[in-house]
Amino acid sequence: MYSDKVMDHFMNPRNVGEIENADGIGEVGNPKCGDIMRIYLDVEDNIIKDVKFKTFGCGAAIASSSMATELIKGKTLEEAWRLTNKAVAEALGGLPAIKMHCSVLAEGAIHKAINDYRIKHGLEPWKDDKNY
Ligand code: FES
Ligand code: FES
Repeated sequence: MYSDKVMDHFMNPRNVGEIENADGIGEVGNPKCGDIMRIYLDVEDNIIKDVKFKTFGCGAAIASSSMATELIKGKTLEEAWRLTNKAVAEALGGLPAIKMHCSVLAEGAIHKAINDYRIKHGLEPWKDDKNY
């Protein structure tokens, strides 16, 4: 049911933890299942220098969090904002259809963390067309 990459990121998730005094923190809950994901960002010169996550959720959510943090590390905030849950799922070699909603957590938490950073720095939050 799960690709090798999903299993790898589930068994050995990258970037688990918290960042003290993070520049941006985003948390979303999944209304479908009650799972929760929190993302911490360290930002320097508009670049994501470090990122950590904590996810209370299913294996697909943990694998998605892990992959998403790998995909945005070292990227600009604009690039990180454009990361879609579809791209996360593709990078994982696909997710079963009933598990696609689990990858939405990563996209939502990243968006919230970026906007948390923007608000803390007196910038307009970016508009989200989705409600997480
Ligand atoms: Fe979240 Fe299954 S519903 S672990
Ligand atoms: Fe809840 Fe996957 S079942 S995020």
